[in-house]
Amino acid sequence: MTIDRGEIERAVQQLKSGKLVIFPTETVYGLGADASNPDALRLLYATKGRPADHPVIAHFADVETLALWSSRFDERARKLAEMFWPGPMTLVLPKARHVSPLVTGGQDSVGLRIPNHPVALDLLRFFGGGVAGPSANRFGKLSPTSHRAASASLEINSEVMLLDGGDCDVGIESTIISLLHPEKVSILRPGMIAASAIQACLSMDLDLENKTANVRAPGLLKSHYAPEAGVLTLDKNDLLQQLQVLLAKGQKAGLIVFRSWQNDVRLISGNKVIEAIFLPQDPIIWGHELYAALRTLDEARCDLILVSELPDNDLWAGPADRLRRACFDTEQKRLQV
Ligand code: TXA
Ligand code: MG
Repeated sequence: MTIDRGEIERAVQQLKSGKLVIFPTETVYGLGADASNPDALRLLYATKGRPADHPVIAHFADVETLALWSSRFDERARKLAEMFWPGPMTLVLPKARHVSPLVTGGQDSVGLRIPNHPVALDLLRFFGGGVAGPSANRFGKLSPTSHRAASASLEINSEVMLLDGGDCDVGIESTIISLLHPEKVSILRPGMIAASAIQACLSMDLDLENKTANVRAPGLLKSHYAPEAGVLTLDKNDLLQQLQVLLAKGQKAGLIVFRSWQNDVRLISGNKVIEAIFLPQDPIIWGHELYAALRTLDEARCDLILVSELPDNDLWAGPADRLRRACFDTEQKRLQV
């Protein structure tokens, strides 16, 4: 998907004048601001409703420009860049001196990425510098993965322009890899680039210890990416039981479940109204559909959204992580009852 040059030029002007541009990427839509302009960054935080001490990712069109934002773009970074950029990967590296504390959340590190979307790459290329780009949603809410979702997530006005890039191919945010330790490599946020692929690229094991200590990052909050409705993830028996309870209480159930459960669900729901989304058991499809499905069921005003428990392995780590965070508040509330 491409858009006309005039639209890109308008967006570049918008960024240069310190305003914001919602831009498509292959993962989710980002809310872009000139990463070298402190006023633009302040506007970005205010628009997102995000605490100022959380870091944002800076986006670039090419590795040469990107590497200037780190004081140590080492051999590991080069290998990963070669293999996965443009693509759904963010590298956390020691920051260069010129990088604003408003980008890094006051830390010594910076998150950098080259997205793989023609509209994003055009925008970044013509802009020339780094574009700070958190997901284009209010803090703590679902990330938008389509033009429609992006326009519903934030108010579009003279300060916030929206570029249309269609639906996002990947559908969940980038895999974030920390290269802060000179020898160890760790994953700060799982995504669709799996740990095994990173290991293979670097010919080394990843550091699986909890590496999130001392790192402030909203994507790392236990509760994040949450829709308005409650969400629970359950195995098949528990989910069917819960469905029965909801229907008996006359509540509206939303389901996102494996297609292979469809007959069992139908047996229980009969002719009662449920909102059900059936997906094949494929992590790429779940990554692509999860936010869109949560959003659809939220908009359908379901009382509770029940989701199949996802397999606990490397390939499912991204969707399983986002689902866990979407469920966190609901589970806490149930524990308190
Ligand atoms: O796919 C993505 O990464 C999307 C698209 C728009 O590129 N962006 C995104 O941004 O998800 P955001 O702000 O919603 O999440 C960025 C995450 C933060 O939650 C934080 O975990 C991490 O990036 N991050 C950024 N800079 C960091 C740093 N210096 N140290 C640790 N984590 C950092
Ligand atoms: Mg986000």
